[in-house]
Amino acid sequence: MSKPYAQYTIALTTAPLYNSAMHAPSHPSLSRSAFAALMETEPTQKCLATQTLRHAFANGQLARNAEDAQHVVAISQPGRPNKPALVEPRQVPRRSLGAIEGRAALIHALCHIEFNAINLALDCCYRFPQLPDEFHQGWLQVADEEALHFRLLRGRLNDLGFDYGDFLAHDGLWQMAVKTAHDPLVRMALVPRVLEARGLDATPPIIEKLKKHDDAETVAVLEIIERDEVGHVRLGDTWFRRLCAERGLHVEETFAELSAAFDAPRPIPPMNRKARLAAGFTEQELAQWEHAEAKKS
Ligand SMILES: [Fe+2]
Repeated sequence: MSKPYAQYTIALTTAPLYNSAMHAPSHPSLSRSAFAALMETEPTQKCLATQTLRHAFANGQLARNAEDAQHVVAISQPGRPNKPALVEPRQVPRRSLGAIEGRAALIHALCHIEFNAINLALDCCYRFPQLPDEFHQGWLQVADEEALHFRLLRGRLNDLGFDYGDFLAHDGLWQMAVKTAHDPLVRMALVPRVLEARGLDATPPIIEKLKKHDDAETVAVLEIIERDEVGHVRLGDTWFRRLCAERGLHVEETFAELSAAFDAPRPIPPMNRKARLAAGFTEQELAQWEHAEAKKS
């Protein structure tokens, strides 16, 4: 059976370069090409397609057509390999980091987050073609960096004798993509500013644990990821603020309303204050969450 998205698979590298002396160019569509990468099931191919997409758009080989917004569809499940099997978060077993298998399970969980993050960034480029080129350049860069993170973590899994797919995984990240597919303002609030920002808080304690187990190689990978993720959250924050400004909405109030409406998890102190401030959160927001947590205890 042919794949339903096969018509969108475009040979990007052979697309003609625009020459101003030519008649109107008929470049492949960015949105449709992003869809093809999003639905790619094989991880190595998805990483390659993502890299190709980023360079093709930067080189003017792909056109952003706002009209493509009329054709976007709901995606309940993006392209992913048959394994890992997806289960409820509480069904993913926690293991001690002392044993190699426990460490591999942790790296696998992070690898799965990065695989989802590639899809989340590609989905922004597929779903919101009405937004300006700089929005798409930003999310293509994120998608490409997430692909690098995925490859680095998969490499560590391979070093330990495992591979992506060898453990169970959960699907929480994509579920938020489904819930926020109708509006880029809601997407920017709840994916980068909630879910990806939680990664900023989570990474330093994981690095400390891995240092205790003398896993310098994985620590080096996580330090690259930590550096890049600040930029990813900042991109989401920048576009959330910009879309709020265009609609005359108050940033902090809108974020709080959306978080409540979508039952988004609130940050749990201690937060990575330095990274969150660098990513665009305000002192006032951080203090408010810290205050709410202190009142609970
Ligand atoms: Fe990442």
